[in-house]
Amino acid sequence: MPLIKPTTENIIKCANIIKNNGVVAFPTETVYGLGASALSIKAVKKIFRIKKRPFYDPLIVHIHCLKQLHTIAYCDKKIETFLKKIWPGPLTVVLKKKDIIPDIVTANLDTVAVRLPSNRIALKLIKYSKSPIAAPSANKFSRLSPTKPEHVLKYFKNINVIDGGKTVYGIESTVIKIENDIIYILRHGAVSVEEIKRYWKGKIEEYSGLKKLSPGLIKKHYSPSKKLQIIKSQKEIIQPEISAFISFAEKPLKRYAFFVDLSPSGDLNQAAANLFEYLHMAEENHKVRKIYIKEVPTIGKGKAIMERIKKASVS
Ligand code: TXA
Ligand code: MG
Repeated sequence: MPLIKPTTENIIKCANIIKNNGVVAFPTETVYGLGASALSIKAVKKIFRIKKRPFYDPLIVHIHCLKQLHTIAYCDKKIETFLKKIWPGPLTVVLKKKDIIPDIVTANLDTVAVRLPSNRIALKLIKYSKSPIAAPSANKFSRLSPTKPEHVLKYFKNINVIDGGKTVYGIESTVIKIENDIIYILRHGAVSVEEIKRYWKGKIEEYSGLKKLSPGLIKKHYSPSKKLQIIKSQKEIIQPEISAFISFAEKPLKRYAFFVDLSPSGDLNQAAANLFEYLHMAEENHKVRKIYIKEVPTIGKGKAIMERIKKASVS
């Protein structure tokens, strides 16, 4: 059975798969990950193959404690103190890598992206595997991210998936890099800039140039199998009978083939948590030919939502 209950016994079994260079899908607090030992070239190759991910796109390495961080990357006290404020949690930091991490993990960069997740199943799996776990989101390259175990099985029928239910944040971790006391945001995500500001007194900037450094900045990403359009108003929807409308705090004015509201109360955290699940539902609905999604304000989690739907709407 590919869907596995998260008992300790089962997590140990999955850890053994990882130890034997196998691949396991597991929940994190953001999205489901497709994990393999980050120390094994053979295992990491499998992730790229299964996901159809190009080798130029580096992976995030997941650890279960700070001690493990120092075995794979160089991190000074100031950065560690900052990380401790948010970790365990949905923040990924790009640091200078140690030799123990194979080049395939980092797409030959001299840095490695590291994250200490807060999901207890993920933490146990990493601990029992006795190895940091490299894990991209458990979707096919450029497709919608998985926030439920069923989404993972939609892409990969024969992979073992630990069932942790729907993920809490519903969008990926925020990816940052720190240089000369400046935090650069490489990818907006589950930790908002406002939250980072609370713990970082230095500058925080968008990472605009040097796209190559974070291939995650690839234009088309997170895409449903149907055309997606971002709208300012429902009035832009011309054929409601074959359209999905994913609204944000707004009631439907017409009868749509599919209608959901990311957050009737206008809560951006709730909207982020529902985003991929609703896009999956719209994608799966046979009546729907085109998906329309209402833009959200770019404050808090809204930045991460807009970043994702803009990429998802690239055709
Ligand atoms: O929430 C998450 O981060 C999820 C869960 C499973 O932890 N993982 C995830 O992985 O979103 P993935 O592979 O879908 O996205 C990893 C992002 C990509 O944008 C990649 O380019 C960037 O991290 N990245 C990885 N290593 C990097 C590095 N050394 N320098 C810059 N960017 C890096
Ligand atoms: Mg991804």
